[in-house]
Amino acid sequence: MAFESKIRPIYWENGISKMLDQTIIPYEYKYVDITSGQQMFDAIRNMIVRGAPAIGIAGAQGIVLYAQEGVNNFSNIDKFKNWLMEKTDYMATSRPTAVNLMWACEEQKKIIKNSTSNIEGLIKELTEKAIEIEKDDIERCKKIGDYGAEVVPKGATILTHCNAGALATGGYGTALGVVRSAYAKDNTIKVFADETRPRQQGARLTTFELVMDKIPVTLITDGMCSYFMNKGMIDMVVVGADRIAANGDTANKIGTYTVAIAAKYHNIPFYIAAPLSTIDISIKSGKEIPIEERSHEEVTHINGKRICAEGVNIINPGFDVTPHELIAGIITEKGILRPDYNKSIVDVFKG
Ligand code: MRU
Repeated sequence: MAFESKIRPIYWENGISKMLDQTIIPYEYKYVDITSGQQMFDAIRNMIVRGAPAIGIAGAQGIVLYAQEGVNNFSNIDKFKNWLMEKTDYMATSRPTAVNLMWACEEQKKIIKNSTSNIEGLIKELTEKAIEIEKDDIERCKKIGDYGAEVVPKGATILTHCNAGALATGGYGTALGVVRSAYAKDNTIKVFADETRPRQQGARLTTFELVMDKIPVTLITDGMCSYFMNKGMIDMVVVGADRIAANGDTANKIGTYTVAIAAKYHNIPFYIAAPLSTIDISIKSGKEIPIEERSHEEVTHINGKRICAEGVNIINPGFDVTPHELIAGIITEKGILRPDYNKSIVDVFKG
């Protein structure tokens, strides 16, 4: 059963992308118009839109924007296709870790390669695909939510890290999709949200959408999770994912690995919730997942104000990899995958 969210982080309207600016939530709730391919690339890189499935949707729309721009410069379909293929490869590099972006760009590349239409027809096909990816994502998340709700104990307190909610997807959420579906069945469940330094997706975004949906949420800082686990106040952990290797190793927002270790120590089940488009079966383990390195200013500053001494060294990886042995299950739109992931992941792709 679905507990709808009103939030739509990105949608296609009248030939442009309408994008909710996630850098200013919760201070402002404002949509921006994304009208060119380069503007979409920058919006993904600068995290106006963020979250693995949402940047997949954005990438697919970005290819349509490029195609619309190119229409006046080409009369030859093959030259147009070659140029668009290059732009699609470029769009796929806007962020490196979330594989949904590369997946969505590959989907558009298949259309570019296989289409027998003229330029106008190809643009129409690419537009339809971008809209389909967005709509499908909402449906996939609802299925993830419903499968996940089955493993949420009655009255549970669920800890989550970062934002894997409506804001990070087409509009329902993966980890928060599980929360939404569980809450629809049992309104005594509660959420603990990690703040998620440095960009505070937990504090700014997860609490925003849960408060909007009137789902009880308690904000904690990143170092507090073991304390509350030790007190018996957390019953399960559910987080999203940016890329899952064939053996189940999972990249998600930096700090996720720490939460998973704490959960294992306290015997608390730690789940990943993600669509199959987040699984990268081309890589054997998490060692092969590229980890995004972001600007030092994200660490040295909060709200534009420097919080540390000048001259300090900074390292700022955006993601970490949780080893598969810490993961109780991967909740997908096709059901919950369990260890041995090498087998369950291969099986789910076989259909
Ligand atoms: O850097 P972000 O905000 O894009 O990172 C987002 C996350 O790590 C999410 O947990 C992940 O993308 C899953 S979103 C359903």
